[in-house]
Amino acid sequence: MVPSDANRPVLPRRNSKGKNNNHVNNNAKVKNNGAGQECPGHTQLRVSPLTVDTKKKVMNINLSLSAPSQVETDCLVAVVLDAGDKDKSAATIASADAAVRDAAKEVIASAEVTGKMFETTLLHRPAGLKAKRLLLLGGGKAKDFSAAELRKLAGAAVRTLKGKSIRSFAFALPESGVTAAEGVRSVVEGVFVGDFDPDYYKSDRKDQKIESVTIVARGEQSALEQALQIGRIVGESQTFTRDLVNEPSNRMTPTMMAERAQKMAAEVGLKCETYGAEKIKELKMGAFWGVAQGSDEPPALIVLRYEPAGAVDKIHLGLVGKGITFDTGGISIKPADGMEKMKYDMAGGATMIGVMRAIALLKPKVKVTAIVCATENMPSGKAQKPGDVQIAMSGKSIEIINTDAEGRLVLADGLCYARQLGCTHIVDAATLTGAVVVALGYVNAGIFASDDQMYDRFTQANQQAGEKMWRLPLDDEYKEGIKSNIADIVNSGGRWGGAISAAMFLKEFAEDTPWIHLDIAGTAWMEDAKPWIAKGPSGIAVRSLIEFATNFR
Ligand code: BES
Ligand code: MN
Ligand code: ZN
Repeated sequence: MVPSDANRPVLPRRNSKGKNNNHVNNNAKVKNNGAGQECPGHTQLRVSPLTVDTKKKVMNINLSLSAPSQVETDCLVAVVLDAGDKDKSAATIASADAAVRDAAKEVIASAEVTGKMFETTLLHRPAGLKAKRLLLLGGGKAKDFSAAELRKLAGAAVRTLKGKSIRSFAFALPESGVTAAEGVRSVVEGVFVGDFDPDYYKSDRKDQKIESVTIVARGEQSALEQALQIGRIVGESQTFTRDLVNEPSNRMTPTMMAERAQKMAAEVGLKCETYGAEKIKELKMGAFWGVAQGSDEPPALIVLRYEPAGAVDKIHLGLVGKGITFDTGGISIKPADGMEKMKYDMAGGATMIGVMRAIALLKPKVKVTAIVCATENMPSGKAQKPGDVQIAMSGKSIEIINTDAEGRLVLADGLCYARQLGCTHIVDAATLTGAVVVALGYVNAGIFASDDQMYDRFTQANQQAGEKMWRLPLDDEYKEGIKSNIADIVNSGGRWGGAISAAMFLKEFAEDTPWIHLDIAGTAWMEDAKPWIAKGPSGIAVRSLIEFATNFR
């Protein structure tokens, strides 16, 4: 039996004959949320065959201005930093509360505790504390400690305690390396990152979510409360994205992705329009349609608009996401080995939807539009073939060398549409190339930027968000690689510098609009669990983009 669980999507009910009761209703229209406008004459998407229960239990997060030793909790978490130099460690409790330092004195003196990053030591009934337990969490060298480490430690605290069935804890904010407000926000974000687990469809899934976290800090209450609220919005939005990415392709079709966007938009007050094949053809999105034409599953063009009153003049940020809900490679089919992972080929699109959620709640004074091009990439009798020529929305002709280079095709039209809608600056995110994984591994996402000023602003946001990204070049010389004999360009520049030629291809469609491209193929999915995060969807780029958009002017 499948246990009932608020965090788990509702599985299709079976009738007495054991058949699925759900049926596809091709004529049903997706309801518009009222905030958005439907374009008359365009067929809206059909309703999906599965109802997905996206109701989530809300985590309780509170702030306490008491001394950590006075907080009643199942477990108090305190950070241990190594204040020594590189030859000699000197573990110290990063808290001004003498009672906490006293409680840990003996174990610290024993040299069992070094303060090494992610080292955990759990003490029961710590003397002089109101907490039932004291978890000492190593944070590494004191001189290198920053918000990025703190965020990871909060995630590690969650994952350590969840494993011991502890659902509620207090985190004593370390008083070095970060300001109190920055620290509160980082801890909240990190707690959300750590709390996610991908085992949605396990029959014996235990609901292991953390129920409540108290952050113990010193500072001005209203500023800390505000930091907590921002952290919650960012953390929940990153989780929203990871939820979408985690779903397998039969449970996250383009239509379902559009429905999730619609539902979220209605909840946070965004305008959302979702379109199907007709609109894609009407807009002459020949590159997008070239990919979509091979699939029986209808594609979706998802447009989310945030248009605040009093938005700054002359700036309109566009966020374009690759939403390939499954990438088989098409006729240039991929090998079976590892193909199941191509369910996460919509991570760029899911990123943009999650970012829009946060933007709607954080309300910056800047206009932002997200465009997600969602489709499967399938081989079939209707599929495009190598050698085919497609005419993109911009009018450029593209020779299809490899149908597996489909992401750049859907993005070509997404970028063009963003320009047509008046975006003055564009960022795209895509699991675009295996080549970026060869270049940067699973550690850094690739950044490409056509505009240095935009890049500088983005890196600032990126550092604030604590996400690793590395810039790769866009020299004109690379354009050689995408020349075609028969058309304006080819869609595949071959093996060498593959992440760059893919980016050069996109640049043809961003044209002179300042633009950043994020290739998240190696970073959108954690290949292994880490102390602070589960194996599975990472939600990479969500935090950086929220930070970038909310400070954009
Ligand atoms: N979705 C893939 C890229 C990818 C690879 C994402 C690994 C995540 C992990 C993309 O559509 C693709 O197939 N790219 C090809 C391009 C090539 C045919 C020019 C690639 O990288 O092999
Ligand atoms: Mn592909
Ligand atoms: Zn792909």
